[in-house]
Amino acid sequence: MLSSFDRLLFIRRVSIFQDLRDEFLVKLASAMDELSFPAEHTIFEQGEEGRSLYVVISGRVRVHVGDRDLARLEKGTFFGEMSLFDAEPRSASVTTVENCECLTLNQLQLIDAIEETPEIAINITRTLSRRIRELNSKINSYESQLKTLDLSKT
Ligand code: CMP
Repeated sequence: MLSSFDRLLFIRRVSIFQDLRDEFLVKLASAMDELSFPAEHTIFEQGEEGRSLYVVISGRVRVHVGDRDLARLEKGTFFGEMSLFDAEPRSASVTTVENCECLTLNQLQLIDAIEETPEIAINITRTLSRRIRELNSKINSYESQLKTLDLSKT
């Protein structure tokens, strides 16, 4: 469990919050919930209703669809933003790899933070762009591998 001061220091360094004014950051830091999860714990499942964005304080989580891993996320990263933005069910499941602590932000808190500092939306979009690029490159490499397998059959 972080002290209020450590919590403030931590979220100030998280990329999506870096542009927030100190005054708002203090308010946000004290309003966020802190949750601890054991290793191999499913934080939420694909298809569930999403109410919170999670920021990883310690440990690592894996984002997956069934048994297929999409990404591993560590300290200082966030997940769960998609359902907050599009009000659709969770697009993937998230399970801890090891003991993990997270801070959570609900939809209203996120919208307040974006209204206060629109740069947050840009920071989140930057991360979403990076994740799509990583996926594109994975799809590309799977397709190349499939083509190679097909060619090797002929
Ligand atoms: P959400 O759909 O609310 O719940 C699942 C979360 O996993 C999603 O928000 C994103 O935060 C995260 N996520 C989904 N797909 C990927 C991906 N390809 N790479 C990294 N994170 C992802």
